[in-house]
Amino acid sequence: MTSRSSKQWWAGAAGYQIYIRSFADSNDDGVGDLDGIRSKLGYLSDLGVDFIWITPFYPSPGDDWGYDVADYCDVDPLFGDLAAFDALLADAHDRGIRIVGDLVPNHSSSAHRWFQAALGNAGDAAREQYRHYYVWRDPAPDGGPPNNWVGYFGGPAWTLDPASGQYYLHLFLPSQPDFNWRNPGVADEWDEILRFWLDRGVDGFRVDVAGGLVKDSGLRSNPQLAPIPPGASRWEQWDCFEHLHDVFQPESQDVFRRWRRICDEYGAFLHGETYHLDPRGMGDLLPPDGMHNGYWFAPMHIEWTPEQVRGVLVGAGGLSDRLLWAAGSHDMPRAPTRFGGGDAGRQRTLVMNVLFAFAPGVPVLYQGEELGLEDGDVAPEAKLDPVGPDGDVSAGRDGCRTPMPWDNSPNNGFSRAEPWLRSARRPASDSAAAQQSDERSWLRTYRRLLATRRSLFARANLADEEVAWEGDDGSVIVLRRGAVTVTANTADEAAAAEIPSRAQPVFETPGALDSAGHDISSALQRSDSKSTDRRMHSVSYGQTALRPI
Ligand code: NOJ
Repeated sequence: MTSRSSKQWWAGAAGYQIYIRSFADSNDDGVGDLDGIRSKLGYLSDLGVDFIWITPFYPSPGDDWGYDVADYCDVDPLFGDLAAFDALLADAHDRGIRIVGDLVPNHSSSAHRWFQAALGNAGDAAREQYRHYYVWRDPAPDGGPPNNWVGYFGGPAWTLDPASGQYYLHLFLPSQPDFNWRNPGVADEWDEILRFWLDRGVDGFRVDVAGGLVKDSGLRSNPQLAPIPPGASRWEQWDCFEHLHDVFQPESQDVFRRWRRICDEYGAFLHGETYHLDPRGMGDLLPPDGMHNGYWFAPMHIEWTPEQVRGVLVGAGGLSDRLLWAAGSHDMPRAPTRFGGGDAGRQRTLVMNVLFAFAPGVPVLYQGEELGLEDGDVAPEAKLDPVGPDGDVSAGRDGCRTPMPWDNSPNNGFSRAEPWLRSARRPASDSAAAQQSDERSWLRTYRRLLATRRSLFARANLADEEVAWEGDDGSVIVLRRGAVTVTANTADEAAAAEIPSRAQPVFETPGALDSAGHDISSALQRSDSKSTDRRMHSVSYGQTALRPI
């Protein structure tokens, strides 16, 4: 059972991101749903996660697959209803699993009644009340958009409303109009939304686009660094500007301070999609009285080299206990794919997660990472993500969003109907059922990792221990936290590392092979001095260098 009174329950917790559409389908309509999640609570409990973050399940036209919300206080019938949510929450709490909701406060769907009213579709009085919930401006003198802002998804961040002759702002799709957070009425509405879910019992929120919300008061154009090349991708377009005025405005912190006070009343965990790749920028996004934590995305933007791995782990510096560490999400190619694919990519993802598990802050697995999944195979004609040029699957986010492979039955046991996102069948060995019964599988390895972590946090009181990153500049990264040492070899070649003689190895990666293909994972067992291993990802307990036990 979870206890609502415990403060900062996330200290020492491990999270799991559920992309609801693709997790588990209970009613065979091809779309994952709340009852599907409920049916897998045993799986999640065996995996050993303390909380799940569920991506949006609110009523939505689905233009951005749920991140275009038409009603913040209800459940889309595709996913169930409020009673199904309550049942999920109750069952999860019974198993000691907390639930984190996804707040989408930068923009709503254009189908939201507030935007419809703002357009004038609900009469003059409603237009008067809701027009300024959104950001409207007259055209520039040439009739074009009011400033030069571009959207994250490419193209101008403004769309003309022909009826009023004004443009409205949208940092994402035209059907995702941005709220006007300079209107106090918007903040009041959002207090109610937070309380609606907190009163139902949710244990926290992940804040979508936490670098957005408040915009420059004068909506000034951003300095342009380079002309936008023809055919530029969305990222290339974005990078042609210095984003001084559209995102990361300090006034957004006033919103988070307000929400922090509300969340603290309930003991809820407030954390953000804090998409800043510079630790100083992260620092600005996470003042002491703002959101409790923020996702650190730098690990999703590296090439696999020891320097870069070390850089993103150590580079977050003094902020580290305010971070959430994730190797993957529903917005990026899966970590094993990004890290080179195949067994190497899977091993590298595991190294990352071993380090995340003991770093300060909160580790979060993306669904399927525990199965070692690479991106699913989506044919160009099956692509559904609105992002990326048509037909270019790799430019979109479909590959990381394909359904969970539960077993070897049709559609890998996700649904008896054709899944909403069609993808190639995965091999049986990728499925949870196959991996459950194989002691050396990824699933069993991740389970052991989380179990080891949980027991060490309890036995060695790790939540209160400082973390020191050690090791020279070579491929071996050593993390010491109280009585625990983590030794991780980030290279594909053998490396030597000191294993303290009094240490008791408590977790090693199976399947560590030397260059001749011999299994040498046992080389780490109670090694007295130096151990040479090709893929050494080990955790040991009881070393005496920092603190006798
Ligand atoms: C971040 C979400 O993770 C992503 O999926 C979505 O498209 C954008 N925010 C816009 O809400």
